[in-house]
Amino acid sequence: MLKIGMVGAGFVAEFHRKSLESIRGIELAGVCALKGAEELAERARNAGLGDTKVYKSIEEMCKAVDVACIFVPNFVRLTILKEIIDAVKNGAELKGIVCEKPLARNMAEADEMLKLVNSVGVKTAYFENQIHMPSVTNARTQLKACEKSMGSVHLTRSAEEHGGPHEPWFWDPTRQGGGVWCDMGCHSIAVGMYMLTPSGKAPDHLKPLWISGNMALLKWGKEPWKSQLKEKGVDYDVTPAEDYALVTAMFEDPETGVKGVAQATDSWMYDAPGLRLLMEAFGPGYSYTVNSLDSPAGIFISDAAADAIADSELALEKAQATRGALVLQPNEPDLYGYVGEWKDAIAAFEKGEDALLNFEYGRMITMLIMAGYMSHEKGKVLDLTDPKVMEELKTYVPKIQQGKGSEIL
Ligand SMILES: NC(=O)c1ccc[n+]([C@@H]2O[C@H](COP(=O)([O-])OP(=O)(O)OC[C@H]3O[C@@H](n4cnc5c(N)ncnc54)[C@H](O)[C@@H]3O)[C@@H](O)[C@H]2O)c1
Repeated sequence: MLKIGMVGAGFVAEFHRKSLESIRGIELAGVCALKGAEELAERARNAGLGDTKVYKSIEEMCKAVDVACIFVPNFVRLTILKEIIDAVKNGAELKGIVCEKPLARNMAEADEMLKLVNSVGVKTAYFENQIHMPSVTNARTQLKACEKSMGSVHLTRSAEEHGGPHEPWFWDPTRQGGGVWCDMGCHSIAVGMYMLTPSGKAPDHLKPLWISGNMALLKWGKEPWKSQLKEKGVDYDVTPAEDYALVTAMFEDPETGVKGVAQATDSWMYDAPGLRLLMEAFGPGYSYTVNSLDSPAGIFISDAAADAIADSELALEKAQATRGALVLQPNEPDLYGYVGEWKDAIAAFEKGEDALLNFEYGRMITMLIMAGYMSHEKGKVLDLTDPKVMEELKTYVPKIQQGKGSEIL
């Protein structure tokens, strides 16, 4: 029975708690968080996930579990990882450390994260759920034979859009790391690159050639939206962030020389049902498409019945409406790939290995995110084969992340 311990008990931790209900051979043994730990632990116990205990200190929790998970906001990633590594140095025998996306807010932070885990040699899992979405993995399996005879995918499009994040810290670029590109672009560029990657090759197999990014603040810098953010303590007159990003990158297969393009689009202005993930992959003679809002289930609530409306997020993540025709997704943890990423990480840690996606991979995604911002700032396509560009990226902090977004948005 592998014992899981979570640092953080907010939105994503609850998604992971639900996901663990579909995983065998695990116990959610511990939770440690500034807020929400007791409630999360109670829900875990009620769901039969074990005797979930609340810990006041990270070290204490790490000594009682096999896997420590970092499910805290981006601005406390490093602090929490340092505490976990100290716990390992003080005797905690961890089989693995899990970190939610994004690994870091910039490359200096990502390098620090890697240095810390390498200092104790603990195995890692970078949680990028979209690569584990059953609709994506099943389509790839189904098309494997076509890919083998015709060649690999040459164009992918991926998008994640919703109406905006749930907590104020996500909106603040100095704490989160940016706007929608840092928050959701890390999913879209990762899954876009993955869909281009030939079957059987590692997720970091492709070599990035160039990247072109465009960001804008389209909705949340306008009234009445701007004032709504001010009420949450976020001032987009002073520290704006992008609510729209379009980033295109070209990759090359180092073995075959075949080139492919990934287009990633992200926005916080999807005033439509809930959260939408769109993926398209086009190969020579074949293709596949995914739309997370296509569901066999739906519900309808008329105005007459509106008095009895329940929390619509129980039906779909980021649902914005409580009446009319509503999309219902009966198993979101599986649909979005959370269950898949857990299965992969648990199996890897049991074997003493890194997960399919490890911290090194997370660092590579951080590089692509930084490169997207740098391309927008410089107003040009970045050559990612140029050693000078790669060197510059290592210490680069986007203006938006520095709180100087008004200079470029
Ligand atoms: N994979 C996905 O689709 C997905 C979705 C949502 C969030 N995330 C990622 O998960 C992470 C957490 O996001 P969230 O939405 O759960 O945030 P949240 O604000 O809802 O919850 C954060 C939790 O961390 C706790 N916390 C904050 N500072 C802490 C500290 N110093 N020590 C201990 N606990 C602390 C808070 O009390 C809270 O329980 C973010 O990095 C985010 O990018 C990923």
